[in-house]
Amino acid sequence: MNKSIAVLAGDGIGPEITRGAIEVLKVVGERYGHKFEFHQGLIGGAAIDQTGTPLPEETLNICKKSDAILLGAVGGPKWDKNQSHLRPETGLLQLRKKLELYANLRPVQVFKSLRDASPIRADLIQDVDLMIVRELTGGLYFGTPKGRSIQNGVETAVDTLFYEKSEMERIVKKAFELAQSRSKKVTSVDKANVLESSRMWREVAENVSKEFPDVKLEHMLVDNAAMQLIRDPKQFDVVVTENMFGDILSDEASMLTGSLGMLPSASLSMSGLHLYEPIHGSAPDIAGAGKANPIATILSVAMMLRMSFNMDKEAEAVERAVNDVLDAGFRTADIADGEKCITTNEMIHEIKAEIAGTGMISSIMAIYA
Ligand code: IPM
Ligand code: MG
Repeated sequence: MNKSIAVLAGDGIGPEITRGAIEVLKVVGERYGHKFEFHQGLIGGAAIDQTGTPLPEETLNICKKSDAILLGAVGGPKWDKNQSHLRPETGLLQLRKKLELYANLRPVQVFKSLRDASPIRADLIQDVDLMIVRELTGGLYFGTPKGRSIQNGVETAVDTLFYEKSEMERIVKKAFELAQSRSKKVTSVDKANVLESSRMWREVAENVSKEFPDVKLEHMLVDNAAMQLIRDPKQFDVVVTENMFGDILSDEASMLTGSLGMLPSASLSMSGLHLYEPIHGSAPDIAGAGKANPIATILSVAMMLRMSFNMDKEAEAVERAVNDVLDAGFRTADIADGEKCITTNEMIHEIKAEIAGTGMISSIMAIYA
């Protein structure tokens, strides 16, 4: 198959991790007979510096012409004091909005060999396998009014949590559909004891659940959910929630896996053009130092293979390679726990070698086969 992929590297560690993901895709292509074409586009701070805007029209066009989008990360101290329309994050938010990437899937899986890398007790996280389904184009991130003003001589700031009912319906529905192919349980997270929008969310969840009698629905308040994620993460299967709650809970959940550098994500649209990105940020403090963990981005590529291209065995090959490389003890700095670690490029190299069948583990298996 021929597939065209837009690559938006962004800022900080974005370029090094997306380069790794591209190399991985090339190996997958060689091994399984596909041709992947890559088209780079500017986004975030890099785009502001070169074009004066965080999401140039050209980038949007590159995305629209592609079969899928891979994104690195955006942001950095250089642009932190900019006004909102000139912030790197605004580029990412505009992209999500313009392409209607409403459903952000953030799977949280604990790799066996990383059980001790988590600050949470190993017995609590063993076999954790949950999916956070985060609404991505509404809520506090986009609602208006938004901004700062002086009212009667008093400085004020406002953000608005706004949702249309249909926006709630489509994301909750997506969560139920996903749950059908998993453990058939949806936890809908809200703040219905305080927020009007959450009370509507709960109603919507109840209504949608009627269409899915085989899936169990449970409601949980977001503060309790934050606590339960640490106390007993195994109770969760699919967790569905609005934009901001999902942003916060997914960073929290990443610590179950040992590092924010492990979590991939897929942002799905109705149109079929989806975006894949690690959930972590641009980590400007370690950019270019060979310390970044490329696994979240490489696992995002596995999600791309499966969800955008229907390439199941290719996706499995990438996931298996990551698993095997971790089993063999290779660690980037974030998951090394003071032990010896390898660089970003070395990690990319090991994963590629496993996919190609020339890595250490594949070779040992071949000898005993
Ligand atoms: C994420 C990030 C973004 C978000 C930022 C960079 C705008 O934290 O994807 O989780 O808040 O959505
Ligand atoms: Mg976030």
